[in-house]
Amino acid sequence: MTWTKIEDKITNTVFDKSTLMTLYALVRKGVVDLLYGVIKTGKESNVYLGKDKNGDNIAVKIHRIGTGDYRSMLDYIEGDLRFKGIKKSKRSIIYIWVKKEFKNLKRARDCGVTVPSPIAFKNNVLVMEFIGKDDIPSPILKDARLDDPEKVFETIRSYMKKLYKYGNLVHADLSEYNILMKDDMPVLIDISQGVIREHPRSEEFLKRDVSNICRFFSKFFEVDEKEVFESIKDAGD
Ligand SMILES: Nc1ncnc2c1ncn2[C@@H]1O[C@H](COP(=O)(O)OP(=O)(O)OP(=O)(O)O)[C@@H](O)[C@H]1O
Ligand SMILES: [Mg+2]
Repeated sequence: MTWTKIEDKITNTVFDKSTLMTLYALVRKGVVDLLYGVIKTGKESNVYLGKDKNGDNIAVKIHRIGTGDYRSMLDYIEGDLRFKGIKKSKRSIIYIWVKKEFKNLKRARDCGVTVPSPIAFKNNVLVMEFIGKDDIPSPILKDARLDDPEKVFETIRSYMKKLYKYGNLVHADLSEYNILMKDDMPVLIDISQGVIREHPRSEEFLKRDVSNICRFFSKFFEVDEKEVFESIKDAGD
């Protein structure tokens, strides 16, 4: 990728110079070759469709420096022994946040949960597998048409169990907005705020995850939220 191509894509956005430098570093490494479309712009991050050096699709999530809610990010980072003793400038919190998402994706994958494969991270940029067909990103669960909602629900329950039991992790922002539907299979995304079980609020977060998922699926069939929560907790014992 040439200097100008990235600059063309980025100059009209709010990205700062350091983000550009980070992207150039990833280009030099051969991880990213081209960014060619925005998948979604959000308050705290933008997700781009990109190509790697082989021309294969990748998803590039770029966190904005300067607008995030750092206090609430700290709630999820503090209490996680993996990130003890970190500096607490805005920039360093974002960098930790991105590293945390990368590590959590890896951990989730290692215990058999379907998430985008993490490819690389640097500073405020995370590169991962693109979930979609051709250049079209998969829809979020909220917008997807479900042929067999019960099966999807059970798969998500099994992901929560595996994550808890083998990954020692709670997603902590699970809902119909952070699950993509690819070929009728759920794919969990946006796992940066995931916490380990030892985090003082992990049980509260797990309850909230379960509650969001049960609320969504109760539109299709009856769900016993307490039973779902207990089944995940029990799996972890
Ligand atoms: N690997 C991926 N493949 C395809 N689409 C993706 C991928 N990751 C994220 N997306 C799309 O980008 C959107 C935002 O991603 P994500 O949920 O990780 O970020 P976010 O931090 O919640 O962003 P926001 O600030 O908008 O809430 C997702 O809803 C999804 O549509
Ligand atoms: Mg999200």
